[in-house]
Amino acid sequence: MKTIADLGDLSGRRVLVRSDLNVPLDDDGTITDDGRVRASVPTIQDLAAQGARVIVCAHLGRPKGEPDEKFSLRPVARRLEDLLGRPVAFATDTVGESARAGVEALANGQVLLLENLRFNPGETGKTAADRREFAEQLATLADVFVSDGFGVVHREQASVYDIAKLLPSAAGGLVQAEVEVLSRLTEDPERPYAVVLGGAKVSDKLGVIDNLLGKADRLLIGGGMVFTFLKAQGHEVGSSLLEEDQVEVVRGYLRTAEETGVEIVLPTDIVAATEFSADAEHDVVPSDEIPADRMGLDIGPDAARLFATKLADARTVFWNGPMGAFEMEPYAAGTQAVARALVDSTANHDALTVVGGGDSAAAVRQFGHSDDEFGHISTGGGASLEFLEGATLPGLQVLQD
Ligand code: 3PG
Repeated sequence: MKTIADLGDLSGRRVLVRSDLNVPLDDDGTITDDGRVRASVPTIQDLAAQGARVIVCAHLGRPKGEPDEKFSLRPVARRLEDLLGRPVAFATDTVGESARAGVEALANGQVLLLENLRFNPGETGKTAADRREFAEQLATLADVFVSDGFGVVHREQASVYDIAKLLPSAAGGLVQAEVEVLSRLTEDPERPYAVVLGGAKVSDKLGVIDNLLGKADRLLIGGGMVFTFLKAQGHEVGSSLLEEDQVEVVRGYLRTAEETGVEIVLPTDIVAATEFSADAEHDVVPSDEIPADRMGLDIGPDAARLFATKLADARTVFWNGPMGAFEMEPYAAGTQAVARALVDSTANHDALTVVGGGDSAAAVRQFGHSDDEFGHISTGGGASLEFLEGATLPGLQVLQD
């Protein structure tokens, strides 16, 4: 994979950087977790310091191919400016007059952020033909392309994939760093290798579970997806999240795990509530006795201790997906316990601990942990999972061509 150094002297050159600035915003447009913006800063800083004219492009959320103020990147421009400690100009479109004028006005070492790429339907077009015109327009803005949005490299989109075929291209420092760490998980992880998976849906994690059954030593399951596992074991799950159509698939995983000697660790108890609300009545119940009128919203305290024990001696840990509805205080303890266990493994025996996915990363920060308490916090959710699945990621593959 080419790196920025391979692009030669960048002084005075127009460099288009694809970053992943897809951060959560609250109703007032305030960024609630700026991890991705922070992670994007070093590459932009490096290019500006080299005297490049830096054009940053990114998406936010999933607008429908047309401008939509609630998905504007404007608040992100201000945050980027604070973190960079240098002005960031903002173009109110992607390849229109504002973008062109903004690029024209850039002096060496200055930075411009374009409006949300997904305001243009060409960005996410299904076929290369659907994306071509937009990619070509983007390409006219710059001399070279730097791919630094690791969180989007699993998307075959104009600013991630097609553009790299049109301009001399290289991976930015963030993409390089992410690939380096995640490769350590896929190639030769130090053992015991434990993986913690949570989040709402089993169906989002099928590929990764399939792949990990041949690689990890322990698979710890929590979050909404655990109820499909409990159901597959023959337990009732009340009104908890359940993917009925995945029960058979999960049963197959449980069989494979037994055959291959992979330990699947499921929670022994569950925090079960009357409804999805912080004020709902809730109790800790055994995971095989969830009452019919209750929904599980977190793993219980006994399970949290069990999970911590299973992580304590691990040399490599990958974690994706919260253990419960951690945004609500009564259901945060399970996720908090897993975060603490990773921090302890990192501090006690220098385990390689990797947190992937926006929700898990936001959770560890919400609990007051700093990024350097973990081996690595990946900016990629879907991208890190697909990398672990061993899938070909279009945005990486195109940089090899
Ligand atoms: C993410 O949030 O995982 C990335 O920014 C990709 O966003 P997407 O899933 O909307 O493509």
